[in-house]
Amino acid sequence: MGLADTLRHATVDDHRAVEEAELLKSIFRPDFDLDEYALLLGHWACFFCRFDPELALFHSAKYSYIPRLPRVDRDLAYLSGVTRRPRVRSSYDGWLPRTDSERLGAIYVLEGSTLGARLICKRLTERFGSHARLCTAYYAMRTVHWPGFRAFLDAAESDDTVDPDAVVAGARSTFGALRDYMDVSACGVLRITATASVGEPLPV
Ligand code: HEM
Repeated sequence: MGLADTLRHATVDDHRAVEEAELLKSIFRPDFDLDEYALLLGHWACFFCRFDPELALFHSAKYSYIPRLPRVDRDLAYLSGVTRRPRVRSSYDGWLPRTDSERLGAIYVLEGSTLGARLICKRLTERFGSHARLCTAYYAMRTVHWPGFRAFLDAAESDDTVDPDAVVAGARSTFGALRDYMDVSACGVLRITATASVGEPLPV
């Protein structure tokens, strides 16, 4: 089995657990509103504040990580003008991917999440109509061609500097951290409030 399949099999339960996280599930509730969407993006911002700088250190001639935070911030700016972050506590606060193997595991999780993001984008457009065009820069990101990325993962396994166990451990810890960040009970004091509301005319 190649590294791409190993990762998929090793993280099936982690994916299920993150899909069950309250903030992500709320997207599909019929009354999901822009306030809740801004709150969700605030949690993503908090996550990428910690993870983006670390993942940008991953070196490969065939792959460069594109930081996500600028997109999340752009969406948040449209929704609320708030650039402060909610405080989120996670049992993974003491952990970050520090080696290229752990970073590759974390990158697998974030690139893979763009597959689910397609469904989320569709849902956001259905719920928020023309607003969605102006606040889905993050969820609309298409950073890799997935089959090509899976081939890249498989090829990485033959690189002496890549430790497949550490890649899997990095992926599982990243899923664990995300599960915490997507849990509303971990939210700190700041509640982000959206200024746009569904049905409002778009700004010109
Ligand atoms: C933080 C949240 C999420 C993360 C980190 C995440 C991560 C991933 C990863 C790593 C994969 C690739 C699995 C593989 O190796 O093939 C994947 C695939 C997928 N995810 Fe998620 N996901 C998240 C949320 C969601 C949500 C909320 C949905 C449902 C709306 C979803 C639906 C999917 C689908 C449909 C696929 C493609 C399955 C396939 O074609 O084989 N994901 N996700």
